[in-house]
Amino acid sequence: MSQESETRLPRKPRRVVAIYPGSFDPITNGHLDLIQRGSLLFDRLIVSVLGNETKQPLFSVEERMEMLREVLDGYPNVEVHSFQGLVVDHAAAHSATVLLRGIRAISDYEYELQMALMNRRLRPGLETVFLLSNEAYSFISSRLVKEVFALGGNISGLVPPAVEARLARRVATSRQKGA
Ligand code: PNS
Repeated sequence: MSQESETRLPRKPRRVVAIYPGSFDPITNGHLDLIQRGSLLFDRLIVSVLGNETKQPLFSVEERMEMLREVLDGYPNVEVHSFQGLVVDHAAAHSATVLLRGIRAISDYEYELQMALMNRRLRPGLETVFLLSNEAYSFISSRLVKEVFALGGNISGLVPPAVEARLARRVATSRQKGA
């Protein structure tokens, strides 16, 4: 290979850093499954909670990060961060070359495709990598978990036990406040 073409070819970084951004309000077993599998693919995986959300979250960014840290305690190459602004800027600040996202069903695809293409336009060096959700978790979303739990439905097996306990405390507190 000539020296010229060698300098033009992009190089694989020695350590691949991936960002897994999301709302995580709260983390579900679907997210956890994706993080577990992502942690085996990348040298460093940064799970990043979006801080400047327009939707009204149930848990604060700090609470969501606490839950994530609790659940992800045993993963040496997984870190928990939060970010404001564009995810591509957050990825650049951590020298991440991969943006990890999960696809549960075809209904996720359109939104994910739009985001991936926009992010590619904003930062071409950042590659979005999709993992298909484990079929056992493909129907789970944070929104549905919160709704079912608030209405007294059983959510065991859908979120980590620490998250279920925190949801119970949060629902009890809001009932007390409402009473
Ligand atoms: O868990 P979610 O809510 O599906 O995650 C959406 C998230 C956080 C990945 C997306 O909203 C995002 O990246 N927001 C940061 C602002 C940004 O960069 N917007 C342009 C994305 S194309």
